[in-house]
Parts: sequence; C-alpha cells; structure tokens
Amino acid sequence: MVKKNQTLGEFIIENQAEFPFSSGELSRLINSIRLAAKVVNHEVNKAGLVDITGAAGETNVQGEDQQKLDVYANEKFIQTLTNREIVCGIASEESEDFITISGQNNDHKNKYVVLMDPLDGSSNIDVNVSVGTIFSIYRRISPIGTPVQMEDFLQPGNKQVAAGYIVYGTSTMLVYTTGHGVNGFTLNPALGSWYLSHPDMKFPEKASIYSVNEGNYVHFPKGVKNYIKYCQEEKEDRPYTSRYIGSLVSDFHRNMIKGGIYFYPTTSHAPQGKLRLLYECNPMAFIAEQAGGKASNGFSRVMDVEPTELHQRVPFFCGNKEMVEKVEEFMAKNP
Ligand code: AHG
Ligand code: MN
Ligand code: MN
Ligand code: MN
Repeated sequence: MVKKNQTLGEFIIENQAEFPFSSGELSRLINSIRLAAKVVNHEVNKAGLVDITGAAGETNVQGEDQQKLDVYANEKFIQTLTNREIVCGIASEESEDFITISGQNNDHKNKYVVLMDPLDGSSNIDVNVSVGTIFSIYRRISPIGTPVQMEDFLQPGNKQVAAGYIVYGTSTMLVYTTGHGVNGFTLNPALGSWYLSHPDMKFPEKASIYSVNEGNYVHFPKGVKNYIKYCQEEKEDRPYTSRYIGSLVSDFHRNMIKGGIYFYPTTSHAPQGKLRLLYECNPMAFIAEQAGGKASNGFSRVMDVEPTELHQRVPFFCGNKEMVEKVEEFMAKNP
C-alpha cells in the first residue's frame, strides 16, 4: 500500500511484492542508489563553494569534456555499488567499457547489472541549474557464476526490471519504477531520509509544454520542423509553451508533472541524435510508460530498439502520449 510521506525504506519493505524473485537483492540495490545519491547531492549542493565546478580536463568516450562532477558522481555510484557487491556489472556514460564486479569469493553470483548516466545536464553545473542522475537495472542473461558479458548490457529497454532518476533541484528527488507505477521521494536534507512525496506519478491529461533545443532547428528533419510549427500555431489549445533547461532529467520531470513532450531528434550533425539509448532514453522511456506517457524514436517504441553498442545514440521523443503520437504522425509524413 502506498502511503504518502512514508520513508523510502518503509516503502521498499512494504512493497516487497514489487520485487520479482525477491531475494532482497533488488531492494538492496535501490538502497545503494539512494545512498550514493545522498553523497552526490551533498557535493552538488556545495558546488559553488568548493573547487568542484568546471572541466576535469579529460574527454569521455562520448567526445564530451568531462566536468569534475561527472567524474565525481561516476566514482561515487561505482564505489557504492561495488563495495556493497550487489551487482555483477556496471556500464556508465563516463566509462568506455563496462565494469565487471566479481562479488564475494569471486563467485560472480550477483544477478543484476546497472547502466547509468551519473551526472545528467553537466553543462548546467556551473550556473547553478538542476542536474540529475539516471539509472537502469536489468537481470543478467549470462549464466550466474560466470563473469558478466556484453550481452547483459545490450538488452532492449523492455527487459528493464527497474529504472529511475535523481533530480538535484530546488529539492532533491528520487523517482523510480519497478514496473508497478512511478513513485517520487523527496530528500529531507536535515535528516538524510527520502519521503514519498509524489505517489503514483502520472502525466496529467492536459499538456501544453514542448521542450527541444530550437537552436538546432535548421538541422532537424522536416517532420520535426513541421511539428514545432504545429506547437506554435494559434489553434485549439495552442500555441504550446516552450521550456528547455538542457538537463534531460529536469526537463522530463517538469513535463511529467505539468504535461508536455521532450524531444532530441536527429540533426545533420548528429545523425543518430545525441541522447544515449542505454543510459538516458530507455530508463526515461520506462518511467514515461509507467506514468501513462510514451517514448518513441520518432517512428516506434524506444524500448523495443535492439541495442548493438554500449554508447549507442537514438533520436528521442518522450512525454504525454497524445503529443508523442502527434509528432510520430508528422514524422511518418516527412521523415
Ligand atoms: P549529459 O550531461 O549527461 O552529457 O547529458 C546532456 C544531455 C541531456 O541532459 C540534455 O537534455 C541534452 O544533452 C542537452 O543537449 P543540448 O545542449 O545539445 O541541447
Ligand atoms: Mn555527458
Ligand atoms: Mn545525460
Ligand atoms: Mn552525464
């Protein structure tokens, strides 16, 4: 039973039925994520005070300049999950290859893998705007007792057992799903506890926000250009409102609460789009669907895309169902 304001710890215990094959492993995994999130939150909160803003001086496998907080968050999540020996492997936006965790006695007995975007919206760190963390959890498919394999990470989104995000915003929230709806917990920083503040989150029926980097407009496919014009038209309940933070987590979170669509299409510079299928799009798609929304690559369901590479990118259209269906109509006419 969902009780508003219960703690995340109480919620996990009371909702054990959500956790398939309940050996407690998935609960412990979510527990570790909430711990790492608190550590990262602490660092994000004092970003202006300590020497943690700015570039780390390295480039990641995505070709992006790593920020110090990208590196810090990556290390903290990896450390927490590794120390507690709960998963058999981790893949991250910030690490070129996946990490194998052999577990107690080197027995490779753990069942789950985690894929993550440790710090989403890095470009917003230095200007005190919300950033986030995204995670996605799968059961391994390779035999237990053997080292984790690439195939364990390259599973389609429809195989996720859990996914979630943390938004380090005006307050810090952890939002996640195990396939039984979406629940949001707000951190009370004084106590270090997460409270169920947003039970059973759903996209509202009425939606009027579109979120896209319109600076790329001239490089978008014709269907996307036409859809943007449609959003701006003075007809029926339009024009829609444009809102774009540039942190997927924050843009998505606002749209799920207020009603809207986020999209990052292909551009002539980024023929597969910018967002990463495994670390960003699949987890957000799982949450969107569980909240009554939809996520598409412009033509079909994102969670049915068969991944071929760890750092694969995909065009992404995600939010209120009707809005995503509308943009798909435009794309079908002018791909
Ligand atoms: P990350 O900081 O994890 O690399 O992700 C950045 C992503 C996403 O959060 C955001 O929506 C998008 O990049 C913004 O890209 P543009 O600056 O090209 O709009
Ligand atoms: Mn990045
Ligand atoms: Mn990101
Ligand atoms: Mn990132």
